Amino acid sequence: MKDLIDKLAAGHDPTDEEWKRLIEGEYDRTLLYAEADRIRRRHYGTDVYIRGLIEVSSYCRNDCLYCGIRRSNFHAERYRLSKEQILECCRIGYGLGFRTYVLQGGEDSFYTTEYVAELVREIKRRYPDCAVTLSLGEREKPDYQRWYDAGADRYLLRHETAGKTHYGRLHPAELSYDHRIQCLYHLKEIGYQVGCGFMVGSPYQTTEDLIADMRFMRELQPHMVGIGPFIPHHDTPFRDKAQGSLERTLTMVALTRLLLPQALIPSTTALGTIHPQGRELGLKAGANVVMPNLSPVSVRKQYALYDNKICTGDEAAECIECMKRRVASAGYQIAETRGDWKGSLGEKKGR
Ligand code: SAM
Ligand code: FES
Repeated sequence: MKDLIDKLAAGHDPTDEEWKRLIEGEYDRTLLYAEADRIRRRHYGTDVYIRGLIEVSSYCRNDCLYCGIRRSNFHAERYRLSKEQILECCRIGYGLGFRTYVLQGGEDSFYTTEYVAELVREIKRRYPDCAVTLSLGEREKPDYQRWYDAGADRYLLRHETAGKTHYGRLHPAELSYDHRIQCLYHLKEIGYQVGCGFMVGSPYQTTEDLIADMRFMRELQPHMVGIGPFIPHHDTPFRDKAQGSLERTLTMVALTRLLLPQALIPSTTALGTIHPQGRELGLKAGANVVMPNLSPVSVRKQYALYDNKICTGDEAAECIECMKRRVASAGYQIAETRGDWKGSLGEKKGR
C-alpha cells in the first residue's frame, strides 16, 4: 500500500481498482495520515489557519434531505442576522485575531444580491486586511460577479457528492447536480478562491461515489475542500440513517491532501461532533484550517444542521482559546493571518 500512497503523492492518477484499495482497503492508516501530514508541512509548515464562521441565517428555500434547516422542517427555529449584528461579529472576531470571515447561511431570499454586496463592501472597508468568504448557496453568475466586485475573496459551495444518481437521492428533484457544478465553475472563472466538498457516509453513498468525488476534484482543482461526516438530524427524512465513520472521513481528508497538495482543508465541526478529538485527528490527517464559530451565542443552537453539534454554547473568545489548545496539542499552531491558498491563481484574476 505504501507504493500506491507514494504514487498518488507523486501525481499518479489511480485506476478505479487502486482508488477502491485506498478508500476501503484494510491497511494501516497511519502510513496514509503520515504522508498527508508530510505534504501539508511541506506547503504550510505547522500553521493552522482560522476562519471566523458567522452563520447569518437559518432560513432556507431548499429542502436537502439531510439538512436540519431544510424548508420543510417546521420544528426548526428560524433567525437571520442583521447587517449590524454581522458587523458586530466581525468586530469581535478582529479583536480575537481572525483575518478571515466566513458568511454562511441557508438560501435566504432576504439577502438580496445588493444587500450582500453592500455588506461585503462594508466589511472590507472596515477590515481591509481581512478576507471575506461567502457560503450562501447557488446563485447565478452575475450575482457571484457582483459579490466578487464588492470585495469577496472566496466562496464555499460543497458539491455534496459527485455521483449524479447519489445526488438525486440526497436532494429533491428541483435541485440539479449540473447547476451546482456549473456554479463552481462560474466561481472559478470569476476569480474566487473556490471550495467544494462532500459529506462522508451520507445515505446511499458507495465507494464509487467517493471515487467520483476524487475524480471531480482532480478536474476542478479547488483551492479549498470541506469534508465532514454525515450526521443525522432528528427532524429530517434521514433521521434513522447511520452517521459517517471517523476513519472513513480521515481517510478522505488524507487522500484529498495527496490529490491536492496545496489545498486549504478544514478539520470540520462535524468531525469534532462524532469524536471528542475529531478535529485534532483531522489536522494530523492532512487538514490545515479550523473554523471556530463567531455567531452570536443567542442563535447558535438554531443553526442546527445535524444533531449534537458542538460549540453551540460558547462565546467566541472561549471557542478560540479552546481551539488554540487543541491545535497545539496536535502539534501545530494557529496563524493569525488571512491564510490564503499558497498556489498561483493563474493568469489575470486572483487577488
Ligand atoms: N446553503 C449553503 C450551501 O448550500 O452551500 C451553505 C449552508 S449548508 C447548511 C453547509 C453544509 O452543511 C452543506 O454543504 C452540507 O455539506 C453540510 N451539512 C448539512 N446537513 C448536514 C448533516 N446532516 N451532516 C453533515 N453535514 C451537513
Ligand atoms: Fe438549505 Fe440546508 S437545506 S442550508
